[in-house]
Amino acid sequence: MTVSTQDRSALIPLLQQVQVEMGYVPKEAIDEISVALRVSTSEIFGVLTFYSQFRLNPTGKHMVKICSGTACHVRGAPLIIDAVEDELGLTDGEETTEDGEFTVEKVACFGACSLAPVIIIDEETKGNITPDQARRMVRKIIKAIAKESAAGKNGGEATNE
Ligand code: FES
Repeated sequence: MTVSTQDRSALIPLLQQVQVEMGYVPKEAIDEISVALRVSTSEIFGVLTFYSQFRLNPTGKHMVKICSGTACHVRGAPLIIDAVEDELGLTDGEETTEDGEFTVEKVACFGACSLAPVIIIDEETKGNITPDQARRMVRKIIKAIAKESAAGKNGGEATNE
């Protein structure tokens, strides 16, 4: 990425461009933008952490978004989060699985509070979710990944397993 402008108003559009191109905003991009726009890196970090659309780390191929807003919280969101993190082998503070397949993100509110608790995995939204249902949604994707991987190893031929 080459930044050639010194217009501070370009900060957010540039960060958005990096986010779209790379899926996150790496440290190198922050440094480059800092120099080009003459904005301190701490100010850029402030913007990045204020807007939830920005990520500072690479995300997994599959996004698991779990609402942790008030309505979802009182209807069991913490149990959903625990179940999904357990299913994916994530420990406290980890968001992305080691294999880079999944990222778990806690969201403040999806605006679907009447369906609480709510989870969105990739494009699939599920309301009134239970911990067991959340586990099954994750397992279904893990199974599909394993099947895809096995098919790839067999030269694309389907297996009977
Ligand atoms: S609090 Fe969860 S959708 Fe609003």
